[in-house]
Amino acid sequence: MPNHGYIISRRAFTAGAIASAAGASHALAQTITTPSPIGPFFPAHYRGETDADLTRIGMSAERAQGQVIEVMGRVLDRHGNPVSGARLDIWQANHFGKYAHPQDTSDLPLDPNFQGFARINTGADGSWKLTTIKPGAYGDGGGQRTPHIHMDVSGSSARNIYQMYFPEEAEANARDGLYRRLGNGAPTSLANALGDYRYSWDIVLIEG
Ligand SMILES: [Fe+2]
Repeated sequence: MPNHGYIISRRAFTAGAIASAAGASHALAQTITTPSPIGPFFPAHYRGETDADLTRIGMSAERAQGQVIEVMGRVLDRHGNPVSGARLDIWQANHFGKYAHPQDTSDLPLDPNFQGFARINTGADGSWKLTTIKPGAYGDGGGQRTPHIHMDVSGSSARNIYQMYFPEEAEANARDGLYRRLGNGAPTSLANALGDYRYSWDIVLIEG
């Protein structure tokens, strides 16, 4: 194979990036985001609103309880090229750590103003943006989950499930079994805090 002059970062290489990259690209190689299990609360039968603001249902004047946050990022291929038109199915617990899902049998309260699911598409530059509530932790004993947002991301040829974690939750993250299972891939699932309750998180697909 001819040398196309790619710069493959050591992190990307050790993360199992496909080094035999074919096709021209001028962008730097990216560390592929480590997938996570789908978990029990994927809203397969959801019939409600799917817009990018989870904090409000319809034209309601009432907003969901908890801290409003903005999460934005891009979907990229492993060369760093934006993936336009990628689909993100996003679901999460509410402020109290409760999913509006029949499998969630906890006593934590539902929030009638919390949407709980969004389906959004990336723009031409691969960008996406979500307005939501910071999810609560949930579970007990050994099954405690640190706050996280689930995403099912479909590019043109790759589909994977991820969980996004919060950098200010370092202690709870360190106790979370699924977070720990990410191993060296954990940093790829950690959002960046931009301040003012805004976060950024880029998702790098194995194939765009
Ligand atoms: Fe979850």
